[in-house]
Amino acid sequence: MPDSLVERAREALDNAYVPYSEYAVGAALRTADGEVYVGCNIENANYSNSLHAEEVAIAEAVKNGHTEFDRLVVTSGARDGVTPCGMCRQTLAEFCDEDLPVVCDLGGDDVVEYTLSELLPNTISLDTLEAAAANRDADE
Ligand code: THU
Ligand code: ZN
Repeated sequence: MPDSLVERAREALDNAYVPYSEYAVGAALRTADGEVYVGCNIENANYSNSLHAEEVAIAEAVKNGHTEFDRLVVTSGARDGVTPCGMCRQTLAEFCDEDLPVVCDLGGDDVVEYTLSELLPNTISLDTLEAAAANRDADE
């Protein structure tokens, strides 16, 4: 039996709107207090407006007041261990610790698990900008 967060991500695939790529992606993001927000990809005829499953999940969570997360599962209809793309990794890094487990579904009970910092080392963050501002202030 796959863990329940994997099940939630797989269920989210049902709502994916993917007439262009036909590649459904589902995500399930667990908050620090145990709630789960799910997302699916929602494509657009102009392609660039397409929303990624992880973006949809994190937007829904933040909209509902959550900014701390402890686990993410990502799946695709192909059960190919899809990982968040670069853009989604950066979006996750805004709110999630570098040790966030990112669980990628290989089908059945099989997963491959990364930490967010393995997927996106040395990211730009609020700390980067605050440090630069402090240096500017010190130079004045
Ligand atoms: N996709 C996601 O939903 N999340 C990712 O991070 C990887 C890519 C979607 C976007 C597009 O609808 C489809 O997968 C093919 O790229
Ligand atoms: Zn993405």
